[in-house]
Amino acid sequence: MIVLGGTWFVGRAIVAALLAAGHTPLVVHRGRAEPAGLADVEHLHGERQSWPARREAFAAFEADAVIDVSAGNGAGARAALAALPPDVRLIALSSVDVYRAYEGMLARRQTDAVPLTEVSALRTVRHVEGPHWENLELEEIYLPAGAMILRLGAVYGEHDYQRRFEPVLRRIRGGRAHLPVGAGNFLFSRVYVGDVAQAVLAALASEHRHGDCFNIVEAQTAPMRLFYEQIIAAADADLELVRVSDEVLPVDLRASGAVGQHLLASGQKARDVLGWQDSDPQAAMRRSVQWHLEHPPEDWETDFSADDAVLRTA
Ligand SMILES: NC(=O)c1ccc[n+]([C@@H]2O[C@H](COP(=O)([O-])OP(=O)(O)OC[C@H]3O[C@@H](n4cnc5c(N)ncnc54)[C@H](OP(=O)(O)O)[C@@H]3O)[C@@H](O)[C@H]2O)c1
Repeated sequence: MIVLGGTWFVGRAIVAALLAAGHTPLVVHRGRAEPAGLADVEHLHGERQSWPARREAFAAFEADAVIDVSAGNGAGARAALAALPPDVRLIALSSVDVYRAYEGMLARRQTDAVPLTEVSALRTVRHVEGPHWENLELEEIYLPAGAMILRLGAVYGEHDYQRRFEPVLRRIRGGRAHLPVGAGNFLFSRVYVGDVAQAVLAALASEHRHGDCFNIVEAQTAPMRLFYEQIIAAADADLELVRVSDEVLPVDLRASGAVGQHLLASGQKARDVLGWQDSDPQAAMRRSVQWHLEHPPEDWETDFSADDAVLRTA
């Protein structure tokens, strides 16, 4: 089993799950990120664009399957395919950001009915997350090559470098009594990182072996305000949400304002076809919050003057 990437967050959880399931993964990456506590597996180091020149090193591992966690764009997918042996089983990670609804959410326009399914309209605008990232491109390369594409919701859990809980946790850490919150109705399907890893195992075990897409998202989604409340409860903290106008929200709490387009997706196809299920959401939330409480960012933001100014308007 080869994992392309595998040492930051989602890939790291996949490697751990593969090991626990008895597989022997090889992780392929540049070698910049080898954090303490990483599972003890073989590494092949190299910049992605150099991989095609190292076909023999890939072939020597005699992998029956490859999980591409870090392609990022079309060039990344092309480099991987040029390096890998033919006929190897392919699984590639993508995101629900491929749907037109994502573009609508960013532009504050209502474009699509939810929940989004795998046949919902795709984005018409490219590179909305910057010039380097485009999941639509990697899907266009990988699908004809027979890959199973897993479109992830917003991933949370241990080692999350995007730190999706931080807007709430930094206020808990700072001993705040009140957190200013907007309309709080945004629905953005999430998924626990350990459940993504289980989805990869389910895809590997499946008889379904042709190019196809699957949303990998939680069964039920808390709107943003309730999500904040769940984080507070999981941290056993005392932090009161105070409704303020969306227009005055501090920058890191803007996701609690009203949105034009929800990003609620259905993971029913993955449940029906792959037999995948997400784990107990309360346990996943508690485990993740506890990890982030124990591993705060080194440079966490301790200035709450924006909150104080906003709370005076409440
Ligand atoms: N986080 C989310 O909410 C979210 C949501 C939707 C989808 N996703 C999907 O999750 C995947 C990313 O997860 P992750 O970042 O946690 O994966 P990861 O596999 O744990 O980490 C990224 C890996 O890529 C390697 N890498 C980075 N640039 C490289 C390069 N130029 N050449 C070779 N190796 C390189 C890194 O190691 P080195 O630095 O040592 O090279 C690292 O091992 C993406 O497919 C993304 O679309 C995530």
